[in-house]
Amino acid sequence: MEVIKIYDKDFKLFISNAEIRTVISEMAARINRDLEGRNVIFMGILNGAFMFAADLIKQITPNCQITFLKLASYAGTSSTGTVKRLIGINEDIHNKTVVILEDIVDTGVTLENIIKQLKGYEPEEIRVATLLHKPEAYLKDITLDYIGIEIPNDFVVGFGLDYEGLGRNLTDIYKVITP
Ligand code: XMP
Ligand code: MG
Repeated sequence: MEVIKIYDKDFKLFISNAEIRTVISEMAARINRDLEGRNVIFMGILNGAFMFAADLIKQITPNCQITFLKLASYAGTSSTGTVKRLIGINEDIHNKTVVILEDIVDTGVTLENIIKQLKGYEPEEIRVATLLHKPEAYLKDITLDYIGIEIPNDFVVGFGLDYEGLGRNLTDIYKVITP
């Protein structure tokens, strides 16, 4: 289907699943080359990264660990707004290469928060792999080691990404149609 509706918004087909799969295969090949022989743990950020993580990990060849983390809202507040606590780190990541798997890096605020918290566990290295990136919206200078597709600053859903909780199940990625 070319156009879909979720609540009040219409979305049009933007990136096909075939294109997504190609991009993920290319990324997996790079990661396999770069991280061969290392002690690697992939950390998928829930909920959005579940589909990307599943497809990517199937093509990772060296032995590696895979886990999922989630950002939970803090009870407290900070000067910068709501601070979200990273939950689900049960593995010892000390001296390991952590590869963060994100569905999308937009402003980079979320990613910076995740990295700050992960550094407290003293991994050897932290790398970032994101399926989508909005360069025009990016405010940080954290290196994005593996970027699947750079997209304009428009809201997208599908392949794990949601609008108000819906759309994650779509296998293609759709872009909002702004009237
Ligand atoms: P920041 O700005 O912190 O944003 O890099 C990261 C988080 O915001 C969500 N996000 C989106 N979700 N379509 C979505 O479904 C989008 O176009 C979009 N842009 C940002 C997402 O949860 C991401 O982790
Ligand atoms: Mg979301």
